[in-house]
Amino acid sequence: MIMTKLIGVIMAAGLGKRMNSKTPKVLHTLMGKPLIEFPLKALRELNPDGILVILGNQIELIKEQLGERYTYILQDPPLGTGDALKQILPYLREYLDNAVLVVPGDAPFINSNLLKEFTYSHQNSGCQASILTTIMENPSGYGRIIRDENGSIVRIIEDSDLTSGQKNIKEVNASVYIFRALALLKYLPQIDNQNQQGEYYLTDIFEKMTVDKQCISIFCYQNTPEMLMGINNRKDLVKAHKLLKEKIIEGFLDSGVTIIDPESTYIEDNVSIEQDVTIYPFSFLMGNTVIKSGSIIGPSVLIKNSVIGNGCKIYYSEIEEATLEQGVKVGPFSHLRPGTYVKQGAKIGNFAELKKSVIGENTRVSHVSYLGDSNVGDGVNIGAGTIVCNYDGEKKHPTVIEDEVFVGSNSTLIAPLRIGKGAYIAGGSVINNDVPPEALALGRGIQVIKEGWAKKRKERRKNNG
Ligand code: UD1
Ligand code: CA
Repeated sequence: MIMTKLIGVIMAAGLGKRMNSKTPKVLHTLMGKPLIEFPLKALRELNPDGILVILGNQIELIKEQLGERYTYILQDPPLGTGDALKQILPYLREYLDNAVLVVPGDAPFINSNLLKEFTYSHQNSGCQASILTTIMENPSGYGRIIRDENGSIVRIIEDSDLTSGQKNIKEVNASVYIFRALALLKYLPQIDNQNQQGEYYLTDIFEKMTVDKQCISIFCYQNTPEMLMGINNRKDLVKAHKLLKEKIIEGFLDSGVTIIDPESTYIEDNVSIEQDVTIYPFSFLMGNTVIKSGSIIGPSVLIKNSVIGNGCKIYYSEIEEATLEQGVKVGPFSHLRPGTYVKQGAKIGNFAELKKSVIGENTRVSHVSYLGDSNVGDGVNIGAGTIVCNYDGEKKHPTVIEDEVFVGSNSTLIAPLRIGKGAYIAGGSVINNDVPPEALALGRGIQVIKEGWAKKRKERRKNNG
């Protein structure tokens, strides 16, 4: 069979009123990704000859997120799904032989395999249009499929337009269709808005077509109806989130990751975790994070877009856009900010904050420190309370601390600064000049002792009565 060319269309211009939000519905996120990314990915994997994205008045905001690779079509104001599809008609005039695959922007679990099956079934049917449906135990909210005694479609009725008898129909419209472009050009203009919601329903096109005896096929996908769920409100988002989260966690459990408490663990699907990693409760692993084998993560960590080497141990800490080599220990209560690189065997401890800094092998930043824009060598000891003053109010300046330096507690290191190999910084120092290798730098007030001062004071007080 000759494959006709396929144009993919995503309808995403709706106001999403039921979300009660200033953010467009399709930009609400599911496990870190905007809703619209899910059906778009499924469409992309089909390799259609083009993808049209129908957007409403927030078109610029969404375009910015999705990038240049799609053709954007404006529908403003959004008057219903039928009206949405009308906006692509001028574009279709150049593609009269094409098939048009329509998916809603709010259905995150539609995948490319299902779309492929649906497309093949449409091709085999030779029909003018095909509808993807499923059977739902609780079909409320969805448009219902009305069939005649032969099983052919008569029409689709929206939930709000159903009679009480029709409410029991469990076959629902997934809002995924394939049309011949010519059929759209002919029948879309016939749709009106005479219904409960006063909208132009795309679903009404099928009644127009059946009256004209046009062939419409139905592909009823029964395996996992939740794959076709639409997100209309925040409760739906919670349901979808639960399903997706469970699926991701099951994948990791199967691949050899120990997850102590899946309920309290959040792992986004771009995260990659190697075998024999253990994850304790309240761990949030996000973005393009990679966790290498043997690491112990949690309890209570948030790691985003970071690489964690083999055999690291991280607890009660936050790490973002950082890289850790093997055997690094972080926590409790450390904050590793973007641009941090920690070499093997280093220890970042209680209340340490690192930003855009390299920490050398086996270096210890164990207590209450801030290191920003710093390059710290191997085997360095950063004493408790060490602060790098990298910011002068206008610019950031670098600090270099060479191998085996010992920085005494409560030191203030004013950048730009270089501390040479093996040097010592006396505790409590304010250091604003470079320190040569192997030197001792003292930068603090000289201690004065007044022998017997307290005793004399007490005596004076006594004598004065
Ligand atoms: C729609 C279907 C319903 C189906 C359900 C499946 C219609 C009339 N109803 O209902 O039969 O069971 O999906 O989830 O089509 N949109 C636009 N422009 C508009 C209105 C909507 O682009 O003017 C977009 C929305 O952004 C959304 C999609 O179309 O991505 C579906 O719209 P929505 O309002 O969610 O339709 P439902 O009421 O869910
Ligand atoms: Ca919907």
